[in-house]
Amino acid sequence: MNQATNWKSGWTAANPLDIKTGLVGKDDGTWVTVPGASYRDLGLAEATGGLLRARHLRGTGTTDWQFHDLDFQWFFVLQGEIKIRTEDGRDLTLGKGASAYQPPFWRHQVYAVSDDYEAIEVTGPADFETVTGRDAIKPARAGEFAHLKGVYTFDEPDEYVRGDGPRAWSLYRDLGTREPTDGRVHIHIIKLDTEQPSPKGGTGEHHHSMAQWFMPIRGWIDISAEGQPDRRLHAGDFMKLQRGAAHNAFDASPDYMTLEFCVPADYETVAR
Ligand SMILES: [Fe+2]
Repeated sequence: MNQATNWKSGWTAANPLDIKTGLVGKDDGTWVTVPGASYRDLGLAEATGGLLRARHLRGTGTTDWQFHDLDFQWFFVLQGEIKIRTEDGRDLTLGKGASAYQPPFWRHQVYAVSDDYEAIEVTGPADFETVTGRDAIKPARAGEFAHLKGVYTFDEPDEYVRGDGPRAWSLYRDLGTREPTDGRVHIHIIKLDTEQPSPKGGTGEHHHSMAQWFMPIRGWIDISAEGQPDRRLHAGDFMKLQRGAAHNAFDASPDYMTLEFCVPADYETVAR
């Protein structure tokens, strides 16, 4: 791994941010309408003191060539599709289940969006500047990130790999953020293996040395978490768990599938 890049937000894998525990349910939050789009906030800026922001988007505008002065931008397509051109000459169509990681100052252009486009978008930090124009000059600080490229992944069956040990009944798809964020952020999709269900039917109570959010994208999961009532979470429910918070996923539907965002990327899991 290269020497860790300096993020404007200041945190690193060794000195990571935390995320305050809480839930924004699929029917919670206020849809805010802007030209060409609407969004609801998922409470992540509040839960991280502005170090991250997460939004559930419906629609998005097309753009000129642009770059953002931030630490990273990431999004996952829930429905519909978006077409993007990137500074290294790629012309990409991102449909349902595709993901995008874009590094700081990465020049890109959104040139088409379907009417039914829906996505989860995360940025670090919550607030940042966008600079528009094919030839806009990047600031000197951009040089530190010049080795990084956008990472775009697609929902292909061979992207899923079986977990190890107690995770052997789940399949994992890595969305490629660990390396370009210098181990700060790991994002993956987890789905149950319907061919090989868990022998105990759940995870048992445990905690992690990471902070996380997760959002089911299919099926449901029953979860108990420290300081929270037991809940059944469905697709679109956005759950945040602070570092060290005890939790137990005690049941799930066979078709359960979730997005999981972990800070830092490498962590310990401790059974209780
Ligand atoms: Fe867990």
